[in-house]
Amino acid sequence: MSASKIFGNWKMHGSTTELQAFAEAWRDVDVPENVTVGLCLPFPYVGLAGQLMPTMAVGAQDCSAQESGAYTGEVSAAMLADVGCGWVTVGHSERRQYHGETDALVAAKAQQAQRNGLTPIVCVGESLAQRESGEHIAVVSEQIKGSLTGVDPSNLVVAYEPVWAIGTGVTATAEQAEAMHREIKQLLVALFGEAGKEISVLYGGSVKPEVAGELFACDNIDGALVGGASLDAASFAGIVAAA
Ligand code: PGA
Repeated sequence: MSASKIFGNWKMHGSTTELQAFAEAWRDVDVPENVTVGLCLPFPYVGLAGQLMPTMAVGAQDCSAQESGAYTGEVSAAMLADVGCGWVTVGHSERRQYHGETDALVAAKAQQAQRNGLTPIVCVGESLAQRESGEHIAVVSEQIKGSLTGVDPSNLVVAYEPVWAIGTGVTATAEQAEAMHREIKQLLVALFGEAGKEISVLYGGSVKPEVAGELFACDNIDGALVGGASLDAASFAGIVAAA
């Protein structure tokens, strides 16, 4: 199978100048047909990215679990939709780790995104200690069950991002990633029936152009969520070319 969705995650990086330079470089990039390519950006750049790159799917990296109201500092899914955002990552391991996000909160955010017409990219993944103790499948299964409670399977993407592979340069091997993706897909069918088969499952964690082809050749890997390598248009284009 080949990749159908590739999203960049700029995390807390970038500036207007960098986004403009990226957009300029991106103009010459051929995106294969049937592949959705997107960038999940810090809030201030979401609207601008859509204006600069009309063919790019534009996403954010978080949204509030609340619809609106007295929640200082929060950004609602409705606001994101209002500035042209169509996608949002929720439950990234950095949100879970540094902001104490629970599976229940992640599920509430995913539901909120869906209510406002956004597609949530729900992130899951085990730590190194959990993998080394052989708990990785159980941990990821629990995260999926908890984070997808009440979530509509027809407008949903899942990203498997082992914490030990994020930002470390240590990509999961194609075998490790494929084995987990197989488990995740079986679980999605158990949870949602036929609709579960249609959910794209992306791999994330030190995806680089050199390893993308091997990952995308796996039956159960439907694309990638790319951190560091998405900041540079040429390396992100290299990953897209492998789709
Ligand atoms: P990385 O990040 O590609 O820099 O490892 C991936 C992610 O956190 O989404």
